[in-house]
Parts: sequence; C-alpha cells; structure tokens
Amino acid sequence: MSLTILDHALIKHKLTIMRDKNTSTYIFKQNLDEIAKLMAFEVTRNIPLKDKEIETPICKMIGKEMDKQIILVPILRAGIGLVDGFRDIIPTAKIGHIGMERDEETLIPREYYAKFPKGIEDSVVIVVDPMLATGGSANMAIENIKQRGAKNIRLVCLVGAPEGVAAIQKEHPDVDIMLAALDEKLNENGYIVPGLGDAGDRLFGTD
Ligand code: PRP
Ligand code: URA
Repeated sequence: MSLTILDHALIKHKLTIMRDKNTSTYIFKQNLDEIAKLMAFEVTRNIPLKDKEIETPICKMIGKEMDKQIILVPILRAGIGLVDGFRDIIPTAKIGHIGMERDEETLIPREYYAKFPKGIEDSVVIVVDPMLATGGSANMAIENIKQRGAKNIRLVCLVGAPEGVAAIQKEHPDVDIMLAALDEKLNENGYIVPGLGDAGDRLFGTD
C-alpha cells in the first residue's frame, strides 16, 4: 500500500486555478486535462515492461514495451474529466466505466452503471476520480472491480481528504493511492476543505 502526493510545482499552480471559484468551466477542464497528463505519466512509472527486439536504422537492439494492458476506470460523472488527459499519454488504454452517485444526506454512494473491457484480471487498472472525500464511492468502485478479478489496482484522485485516504487504506490496503493534493478535512456536508467544490458541477456546468 502506498500514498503518493504529486508535489510538483506545475500541479500546484494548475490546481490553484481549478480551486478558484471564479474559474470558468472551460478553464477548469483545460487545467484538469493538463494535470491528468502529469498524473498519468507518474502513475505508470513502474508499469511492467518486457523486452522487444527491433532494428534501428543502425543496428539490432533489445528495446522495451509495456507488458500489461492498462484499463482506465473513471467513476462517473466527474471521473470522465480525467479520461482525455490519460488517453493522450496512454492511447492504448481501454476504458471501463462505473457510475456512482452520493446521497447528499447520508453521503452513501449508489452504483448505477458498470461496464468493463475483457481481460481485467491481468490488467493494470487505474481508477480515476477528481475527488476522494469520505472514500465511499472509490471503495465501492474498487470492490466492484475486484469482484471481476482485478488484482493490480491503482487509485488516482486530484484532491483527497484524510478521511477518504484512511477509508481506502482500511478496505483496500493493496491499492496504491496517488493524489495531487491532500487537503485538511471534510466539512459537515461531506465536502473537502478547502477542496474545489463539486467537481462534477464545475466540470459540466450543472451548478
Ligand atoms: C463526487 C466525486 C466522487 C465522490 C467523492 O461524485 O466525483 O465520485 O463525490 O465522494 P466520496 O469520497 O464521499 O464518495 P458525486 O457523487 O457528486 O457524483 P457526480 O460525479 O455525478 O457529480
Ligand atoms: N464530491 C465533490 O465533488 N467535492 C467534494 O468536495 C466532495 C465530494
């Protein structure tokens, strides 16, 4: 189990733009795309590789190629916002979808959709969602994915609360977590403080 905070100047700069309540939907998505690319680069750093024999214009050599299929799983809705950036960096990734909606009163998520590509058992599965608040949605999504046989699962979120990180580490200690920022706490409504507000609403302009 590992928790990585991507403590990079570019990410801090872009995330500050996203957190600003005056940032438009368009600029919010643009910065999310850019951060997603940086996180995709980092979360795939240790993907298993295998030898590949090729011939350069000069001579034969043994190069490397990825030895695992990558399956990206956005948690709908807001997780969709991370897909474009990840696909720019990993164009061969297949995409699974899982729909989760938090009840505004109880904060308990409800699963409303799930569809996955074949071969999830042997793939590296990267679950993406901008927000890790109570951790309920990500925990339920990971449970669903594990029931389909996935063994190598990573969770990438933009902003996490300590409560959400603790919840994932308790339920799924084998899942590596990567965040762009670990925030202070949850407020009484289950929103991350300082956070960036409702990620889905800000991404799709539904507020
Ligand atoms: C948001 C967010 C996460 C979830 C995090 O989704 O995108 O999926 O809340 O909260 P949790 O860690 O307490 O479960 P939401 O339920 O608002 O749905 P949406 O993406 O459709 O807006
Ligand atoms: N979901 C969001 O979109 N934002 C939060 O701060 C918490 C959950």
